[in-house]
Amino acid sequence: MLQQSGFGIAVTGSGSCTPQVSLDNHGLSQIVETSDEWIAARTGIRSRRLANHGMSLCDLATFASQQALSMAQILPTDIDLIILATSSPDDLFGTAGQIQYRLGATKAVAFDLTAACSGFVFGLVTASQFIRTGVYQNVLLIGADILSRWVNWSDRGTCILFGDGAGAVVLQASEIDRFLGFEIRSDGTQNSSLNLAYKAQSQELIDGVNIGQGTFQPITMNGQEIYRFAVKKVPEVIEKAMFRANISATEIDWLLLHQANQRILDAVAQRLHIPPEKVISNLANYGNTSAASIPLALDEAVRQGKVKAGDTIAAAGFGAGLSWGAVIFQWGS
Ligand code: UT7
Repeated sequence: MLQQSGFGIAVTGSGSCTPQVSLDNHGLSQIVETSDEWIAARTGIRSRRLANHGMSLCDLATFASQQALSMAQILPTDIDLIILATSSPDDLFGTAGQIQYRLGATKAVAFDLTAACSGFVFGLVTASQFIRTGVYQNVLLIGADILSRWVNWSDRGTCILFGDGAGAVVLQASEIDRFLGFEIRSDGTQNSSLNLAYKAQSQELIDGVNIGQGTFQPITMNGQEIYRFAVKKVPEVIEKAMFRANISATEIDWLLLHQANQRILDAVAQRLHIPPEKVISNLANYGNTSAASIPLALDEAVRQGKVKAGDTIAAAGFGAGLSWGAVIFQWGS
């Protein structure tokens, strides 16, 4: 499709990185009262990768980025902008700057973006705007999370779901526009359904001057609420993005959803009448890697030769905020 207005955008490279250490469902059943049968039947997850004590988010993200740059055949010094979508930075002031330094992306401006499991899709849309307006030509977008740092490992309702990882893509200005349509949404009224919340303790500095110093608390989630929300809202937002892209569900080659739960993937695909063979799924091996899940699944599918140049992909993320969104794009330059 030729560009409608503004500069064209293409997604030209991908990369990913997961920790080597894996914890399968049998291992998890030594930590909480659960079983491989229950987890596999309710979620489709069999195993997840966990970052060890010495591994940083920056380590995972930098490796994934190097792979994406190499596939896109650009140098770190070509990058204009680095966006790191994460909810578990090494540093609350931002981790993107460390990645910029490690890559040697001397020209790039770098910042973190927080939108939980929707972070990668929100990042795609953010990155695309800088290219669409002609401001930047080469953008590196990373989705990375180490949620094992923030999971309550005695809560079987949440600890079975999450894994650690990073994925990255390169977006470039292009004569042919491959970025066909998007829709992103937020609903703060349901914010309390999924949180990694800060809890302050009152501390009196001097008479009458109280500040709140504390720490972030482990993840809390109303699983059934999130499940209902995802199954209802994700098909709607994909349909809206397809409408903006002026294409129908039959023209979608790959449905690439945030890898939260196989039952959610199946239900969304069914509602959109997209057959199971067009649904990309790797959550059995990695669990829910939050902002990393979409680029991790994309990179695997590209390297396996499933996703080919010109294929049309409907990518959708959803999660805390609550937030959700979809992007329709064609893979490759
Ligand atoms: O990025 C977005 C992140 N969040 C999500 O995507 C979460 C979406 N929600 C889900 O995936 C599902 O709601 C869960 C997988 C979290 C839970 O599945 P469910 O089918 O909604 O189970 P449930 O919470 O209704 O619990 C059913 C039963 C309960 O027992 P009772 O009350 O029926 O006796 C739970 O206590 O299963 C029990 N249960 C477990 N049993 C074994 C809950 N967690 C476990 C467990 N192992 N890990």
